[in-house]
Order: sequence, then C-alpha cells, then structure tokens
Amino acid sequence: MELNQNKVIDESRQGEPVVLETVNHSGKKLYVESYGCQMNFSDSEVVASIMTKEGYATTRNIDEADVVLINTCSIRENAEQRVRNRLTEFKHKKGQNPDLVVGILGCMAERLKKVLLEEEKLVDLVAGPDAYRDLPNLVEEVGTGQKAVNVLLSRDETYADISPVRLDQGGISAFVTIMRGCDNMCSFCVVPFTRGRERSRDPQTIVEECKDLFEKGYREVTLLGQNVDSYRWNLTSKGEIKDVNQPTTNFAQLIEMVAHISPNLRVRFSTSHPKDMTDEVLEIMAKYENICPYIHLPVQSGHTDVLTRMNRGYSREWYLDRINAIRKYMPDCAISTDIITGFCGETDKEHHDTISLMKEVQFDFAYMFKYSERPKTLAERRFDDDVPDAVKGSRLNEIIELQLQHSRLSNEKQIGKTVKVLIEGTSKRSDEKLCGRNGQNAMVVFPSQHYMKGQYVMVKILDCTSATLIGEAVSLCN
Ligand code: 5AD
Ligand code: SF4
Repeated sequence: MELNQNKVIDESRQGEPVVLETVNHSGKKLYVESYGCQMNFSDSEVVASIMTKEGYATTRNIDEADVVLINTCSIRENAEQRVRNRLTEFKHKKGQNPDLVVGILGCMAERLKKVLLEEEKLVDLVAGPDAYRDLPNLVEEVGTGQKAVNVLLSRDETYADISPVRLDQGGISAFVTIMRGCDNMCSFCVVPFTRGRERSRDPQTIVEECKDLFEKGYREVTLLGQNVDSYRWNLTSKGEIKDVNQPTTNFAQLIEMVAHISPNLRVRFSTSHPKDMTDEVLEIMAKYENICPYIHLPVQSGHTDVLTRMNRGYSREWYLDRINAIRKYMPDCAISTDIITGFCGETDKEHHDTISLMKEVQFDFAYMFKYSERPKTLAERRFDDDVPDAVKGSRLNEIIELQLQHSRLSNEKQIGKTVKVLIEGTSKRSDEKLCGRNGQNAMVVFPSQHYMKGQYVMVKILDCTSATLIGEAVSLCN
C-alpha cells in the first residue's frame, strides 16, 4: 500500500483524512471522507463515479450533504478508533437532519457491520470494498426505512470498466488501481480478511485509464496493489497460461506498457513484496527514464525467526539479496520500507537485528509502527501479543530516531546535484515557492520564478532537512 505522501492520508502510514468534491451537478449531494491507504482513496473515486452517474454531486461541505460516506481502514486499532469517533460526530448531524444517510465503506465494513448498524446504531448503510456498484440500491433501501448492508467479497470485481471521478481537479498525480485483495496471509495483517482474494485488472483498461489521465494533463500515475509483483493477467499463480488465444501480462510487462504512453508520464507503483520482486521488473525500471527509481519494499523485521512468525515468505538474507539486486540495476534507486516493532515474541536480540538491517540498508524513508493485534489474523490465533506496550514504544522510538538520521543522510547526499522535479504545486509554507518530487520521491522546494505546476524542471539542490530538499530551479525540461 503506497505512496504520494502529501496527497493521501495513509492511515496505514498516518495522515489527515481526504475529503472529495466534484462540481457542476444539481440535485442530491454526496460527502465522502477517506481514511487509510491510497487504495481507499482510489476506491472513493470509484464510489464518486458510481454515485455521480446516479445524479449525485460531491461536496466538501458536510452540512449540505444528503449522503455521507466514510471509507474506513482496519489496519491497526487506532485507525478504527479514529473512524468511530468521526461516526459519533456524524450521529449528532443526523439529530439535526433525520433524512441524512450515513454509511461506512471499506475495510471496517465486514468486521463491524453488526456493531455499527445494530448495537451502536451509528450508521444506516454498510458497503464492503467489493460492493460499491450496489451503493445506489443500498441508499434507496435506506430511503425505505431499512438498514442496508452488502459486504460480500468477490473473486473477480476489479471495477475495471469504471472510470474514476478525479476529485483533485487540475491534478498532476493520480492513483490507478491495478489489482485488488491479497492472498499472502502475513500473520499480522487483516487485509486478506477485509479485502478478500487477490485479483488483477485487465491491462488494457489500466493503459486506457493512464492514457486518459495523461491527456487530461496528469503527469504521474501510481499503480496500486497490495502486492504489485504478483500482478498477472491470463496467468495462473504458477505462471501457466490460462487461455492460449489471449495475451498474457505480468507486472514487468504492465509497467513497460504504461511507460510507453509518453516519456512525459512518470510511472510509480506500490507496494512491492520482497518474496515476489523479480529481476525482470528491475531491468524494465532501469530501462525507462520515466519509471521512477523508487521502490517501497516493506521488510517488517530484520530477523528471520520473526519473519517466519509473520509468515512473510522470505528470510533476512533473501531481503538483503533483493536490496543488492535493486542497487545492481539502479545504483541511484531510493528504497523505503515498513517496519513493525514488538511483534509477538520479539526478543531484544531480534529487535537489534532489525536495527542492524536498517544500518546495513540505510533506507531513504520508512514507515514504522507498533504491532497492533487484529481480530481473525493468524497471529491472533497462534501467538500471544506478549511484548508490553512500553517495550513496543521504546523500540519504535529507537528505530524512528535511527531512520531520521538515515533520511537526513540520504537527503544530504543530494546537495550539489541537479535533479529533475515534476512540479506539483505551491509549497504549503510559502506562496512564493513551488514543490514537487524528484524521481526518488524526495520532496523538493524551490522559489517559483516563472515555473508552473505540471512542468518538469531541473533543480539544483542547495540544502535539506530530513524531510525536504531545498533548491533553485535552473532550467525547464519540456
Ligand atoms: N500492526 C502494526 N502494523 C501493521 N501493518 C499491517 N498490519 C499491522 C498490524 N497489525 C503495517 C505493515 C504494513 C503496513 C501497511 O502496515 O508494516 O506493511
Ligand atoms: Fe497484508 Fe501481507 Fe497482504 Fe501486505 S502483503 S496486504 S501486509 S497480507
């Protein structure tokens, strides 16, 4: 689940909720708030598309909404708690407007449908991640006084034919979902239960969507999936061809197809899985300048025994071999990761092996979390959540501190270089500055001069913090 850290609230990796808006419609109004990973944000655009066809306009003003939907995340307990608090606030709104329809979407739907609908009566409608086509019917059912639920998970729903309503008008960077669900069963993770079985989307529809975005002025797409390396079309999980009369596509071929749309369309993707990432993907990345040299490769732990308990399907050595492969093909490739502290049974020695792996790899960026036990997962059933919260916390602080040093070092290495930046807009801190990312996904801020959003510029890096590169634009690229 990954990245474009400034645009989405990644509850899986922290942030602010995203609220969506479309304009130029009359009639009923829909307010959607998204929590969680980029996949949720992307799903909310599919939801907006389905509801727009029903005559709804989206609004950012909750007070004028007829339907309020909240797209939820279950990845850790605190993500769920945030949503519950928000739902309690909506309940007050319902007191003022009894006709208001409040619904939850996404990962909390299946898990909490009974509690939220019947016991706490916080919502009227519950729709799981594969049930969004049914939303217009569900809203209608609520109108007839019923509680409406559809949390069925599908083996083949990919919303391939739905063209998402882009809610950041004049946007530069968009998410494109290429697959849904996950078959990995990492023992800590609730996603296989909330999002169901893995399925890939028809590559032609992906390329069409990306082409359309490019024509509308977008200059960057991020291809999304829980495990993009296992993207496959017309292939079985063993790599056999399903229908010999149809073309097959693996992930390496898919990114190449998208890269061919235009050299001016940047291609990113997320999330890669260490057990499945192939050299073929790295070769293709190295071949195309517009496929960004940046890989998010969650390690979770630096000790093989912990990785085995996590059911990750690789060892410390395997992970380090994949890092070496990335550096062999792309010496300048940025690498980020996810790390969990205090997983079941984690000893001091195992924790220190995570620290030693971090020192060995020197990640450019990392998302770090305390382990949070999730219902139904393998870990909940098999292991005790036995690392005290205070220990989880102090281990987390230790790795955050180390990562800050590594992030700063990574940025310091850029000082003096001139890097290609895609301008995303005005800097949050100053109207006179622009910001955008280099290929490695580092945020770069520089004085605007005459440059504009959507342009590629060469920026000379003069200074940095641990989070941002600071520079001066020297020339336009296109
Ligand atoms: N507790 C803590 N972190 C988790 N993640 C997933 N499940 C849990 C959990 N139960 C983290 C992993 C994953 C990221 C999206 O969220 O690091 O890669
Ligand atoms: Fe969860 Fe593992 Fe699937 Fe990622 S790969 S969504 S961590 S089960």
